[in-house]
Amino acid sequence: MKLNIAVLAGDGIGPEVTTQAIKALEAIGHSFNHTFIFKDALVGAIAIDKTNNPLPDETLDLCKDTDAVLFGAIGDPKYDNNPNAPIRPEQGLLKLRKELGLYANIRPVKAYDTLLDKSPLKRSIIEGTDISIYRELTGGIYFGKKHTNSEGTIASDLCEYSKEEIERITHLAFKAAQNRRKKVTLIDKANVLESSRLWRKVVTEIATQYTDVTLDFMFVDNAAMQMILNPNQFDVIVTENMFGDIISDEASVIGGSIGLLASASVGDTYCMFEPIHGSYPQATGKGIANPIAAILSAAMLLEHFNLHQEAMMIKLAVEKALELNITTSDLNPENPLTTEKVGDFIADYIENPEDSNINFENIHVGQSTII
Ligand code: IPM
Ligand code: MN
Repeated sequence: MKLNIAVLAGDGIGPEVTTQAIKALEAIGHSFNHTFIFKDALVGAIAIDKTNNPLPDETLDLCKDTDAVLFGAIGDPKYDNNPNAPIRPEQGLLKLRKELGLYANIRPVKAYDTLLDKSPLKRSIIEGTDISIYRELTGGIYFGKKHTNSEGTIASDLCEYSKEEIERITHLAFKAAQNRRKKVTLIDKANVLESSRLWRKVVTEIATQYTDVTLDFMFVDNAAMQMILNPNQFDVIVTENMFGDIISDEASVIGGSIGLLASASVGDTYCMFEPIHGSYPQATGKGIANPIAAILSAAMLLEHFNLHQEAMMIKLAVEKALELNITTSDLNPENPLTTEKVGDFIADYIENPEDSNINFENIHVGQSTII
């Protein structure tokens, strides 16, 4: 297969982790005889610095012209602490999601057996957790009308949803559940919000078309608690934009590090793959960022194009890295490896999975040549 991939590495640690994801994809290309052509474009704070626009037209055109987008991270503290900034890097990402019609953001959350003791949550609580979060991505409070009064003393953000917006992601969530443990949980705040009541109505109607899937409902405040009390009760979660943003960061604690969580954003035409962690500015350029979320996002890209064996190979390589503790300081504070070394190991394992000699670990992270 030949795929053209737009690479929007963005800000902070975005470029470092994206480089490792590309390396993994190139290794897959070699092993499985695929051609991946990568084309870089600007987005975020770096794009503002260079063009005064967080999403230059050329970037958007490139994304529309390629088969998939590989996204790094966006954001810079110089904007975070300035509420008056007229242009913000995040606007680039939001516009990109909207323009590409990426209405469904899929965020898998998994407790890896080898990492059960890395999470601050008890092993007995998180063991076996395997959740797929379907976050609506192009509607709700993120995109509703925004207003500040002329005195600058009152501000509002409108949370609006249409039936169609709810329907399209809900169908994806139910289809996913059919191939999993056949349960969908709608997270909302239907005891307070009108928009949540519409979600309940529409999702309940759609559920009648998927008789093999059980639907249940949970208020978002309770869901935040349930996520750390008993995450195993969740299979597929479907929820609106902001609740999904918050719940997925919370859920990342289960895996032991937010540096592990990948995501796919899909619509009817385009697709984009990005780690859920942010730009982590404190770590920029230090080689300490965990590349695994970006690498697993590349695996989701492969899955999207039905390259299941290839995606599985990336996941196996990641699991091997975790098993051998070939990880960055977030997971391995005593003996951390750099972003690049972790990426090297994973790419190398993809190409040489049989190589299981005694010095395996050293050889694959390039620390030794003695076999
Ligand atoms: C995410 C991020 C974004 C969001 C920000 C950077 C706009 O937190 O992808 O989860 O809120 O959607
Ligand atoms: Mn977020």
